[in-house]
Amino acid sequence: MPRRLFITLEGGEGAGKSTNLDFIHQWLQHEGCDVVVTREPGGTELGEHIRDFLLHSKQLHIAPESEVLLMFAARTEHISKVIRPSLEAGKVVLCDRFTDATYAYQGGGRGLDADRIAAIENWVQGDLRPDLTLLFDVSVEAGRERAGQRSEPDRFERENNEFFRRVRETYIARATREPKRIRIIDASRPIEQVEQQIVSVLQEAVHGR
Ligand code: TMP
Repeated sequence: MPRRLFITLEGGEGAGKSTNLDFIHQWLQHEGCDVVVTREPGGTELGEHIRDFLLHSKQLHIAPESEVLLMFAARTEHISKVIRPSLEAGKVVLCDRFTDATYAYQGGGRGLDADRIAAIENWVQGDLRPDLTLLFDVSVEAGRERAGQRSEPDRFERENNEFFRRVRETYIARATREPKRIRIIDASRPIEQVEQQIVSVLQEAVHGR
């Protein structure tokens, strides 16, 4: 029987996270997992309000400290109302972004000190960390081209390429430090090859092979 698992998806803009979320969800269900799909910021009533503000506020400049605290306010609510109860019920939680995004966007992108983020992470999460993180990686240019074909850019999507290069570098540095947990998926490949990479990582996490 598949065990309970906390799986997160990460990546820069246009890396194909959302497209692959459905594929991963279906694959896990097919393997007999009881899956809860959720996202950050969001996943609760308060979290979705915070998301709406952070992504769509007309106020483009919010102090990075306020931004990081709002991310963690949404996360605190999400952990206590959705993530912990689902894991305790033996479910698989599949979460579109989590704290690696805070290190990448507020740390790398906005320049906040990683030690400060770590202090809040420890306070808010205790020992809760994802069991597995799939990092969808694509060059900044290719990702932005894909994302640009979608709707009106949000507050983060308005940032420049330099911001997104720092985001990508931070994600990759984290994957290098934690290679067992953070698995890089080369999202520049054709969709079938991306799905093959996903399945091989999931097989290992769910069935231990
Ligand atoms: P997305 O999940 O639809 O890509 O949108 C969420 C946006 O929020 C994305 O631009 C990344 C950003 N974000 C942060 O800056 N910090 C965080 O901790 C999280 C979870 C998301």
